[in-house]
Amino acid sequence: MTYDLNITFDDNLITGNKTIDTQHKELIDRIQNFLTACQNGDSKVKAIKMLDYLDEYTNFHFKEEEKLQENVGYPGRETHHEKHEEFKKTIQVLYEYLNDYEGPTDQFSELVQKNVIDWLFGHIKTNDRSVAEFIFIRENPDLL
Ligand SMILES: [Fe+2]
Repeated sequence: MTYDLNITFDDNLITGNKTIDTQHKELIDRIQNFLTACQNGDSKVKAIKMLDYLDEYTNFHFKEEEKLQENVGYPGRETHHEKHEEFKKTIQVLYEYLNDYEGPTDQFSELVQKNVIDWLFGHIKTNDRSVAEFIFIRENPDLL
């Protein structure tokens, strides 16, 4: 398997909520920076640094998203929170990988593809979109 992991924000990922969409762009940028660091054979130190940046922003973004849900009394908060915890666990697994990282392996590629890229796209298109719609309806009751 060739190591060819990339992630970019595209219009399919728009939820319609400005705050959420802006933060998703930043999150995806940081994932890409991490992938690039792994891919370019940059030093392990650099890859770990990029993962730190990703970890930091993930925590910020999830907290913000959960605050938005809290504010509007979104009913699916619990389930959504569990999903976020799932992704945070994946980041911890990536740290473990980097500990003895000698370059990308098939296993690493599969993990990133499935648990980072596919996971995030799926999460945005279902869970986050549903939050954005709920907020929109709450803020525009007269449009209904
Ligand atoms: Fe989310």
